[in-house]
Amino acid sequence: MSASADQPKVPRHVAVIMDGNGRWAEKRGRPRLFGHRAGAESLRAVLRACRDHGVEYLTVYAFSTENWVRPADEVSGLMSLLKTFLKKDEHELHENQVRLLATGRLQDLPDSVREELERVIAATRDYRKGNLILALSYGGRAEIADAVRAIAAKVRAGQLDPETIDEKSIAAHLYLPDVPDPDFLIRTSGELRLSNFLLWQLSYAEFYFTETLWPDFREAEFAEALAEYARRHRRYGAHA
Ligand code: FPP
Repeated sequence: MSASADQPKVPRHVAVIMDGNGRWAEKRGRPRLFGHRAGAESLRAVLRACRDHGVEYLTVYAFSTENWVRPADEVSGLMSLLKTFLKKDEHELHENQVRLLATGRLQDLPDSVREELERVIAATRDYRKGNLILALSYGGRAEIADAVRAIAAKVRAGQLDPETIDEKSIAAHLYLPDVPDPDFLIRTSGELRLSNFLLWQLSYAEFYFTETLWPDFREAEFAEALAEYARRHRRYGAHA
């Protein structure tokens, strides 16, 4: 599709590093989990905004492979927040026909969380009006390492000729090979890093950084980010 001045472009896939929950809570003298709970509200708001703006895929960095070393009470608080989200918001996924997917080393999640996750993924698998992808126990290098291991196993089994390995076959061994690459990455809270998020998939994405802390990032802030994406495409889209 070509972009032109009167044709604002909406990204098909938005990826978000939801950063700043801890600082948001600390500023209010409250425990970090209070910030994560407010962050879950932002996720709900942004998911609705995706539907309103016509964004088909939303991937959020909900828990990284590095997050396991956080204090045990914060990790268990995040896990129970995730379970609550899966239980409380499932109806909204059904109402809006949003498919839930997950990416990451899901085998590392506590059984009760993984079972709930798998249940909602199965219950929403036929929906296509929107796609919510939770990155859980996710690391970009871990994902690439897992893909390399799977490819090496096929080579050893004589199912794959090493000479045929190319970008396409590597991408086919990532966790969610059928999901299109993100067009737009948003990171909140003023940090200017990728933090091991979707290293392969973000190769051509536009990046957007904002000082706003994630719990304060709601519909208006999301609309502002999309407007910036559209501006970049109006300027450069024709030459992309
Ligand atoms: C980063 O903020 C955020 C996380 C590590 C977790 C993100 C989780 C949520 C937004 C909870 C909702 C998710 C679901 C799926 C229900 P931080 O703690 O690193 O903040 P800081 O940098 O200010 O300390």
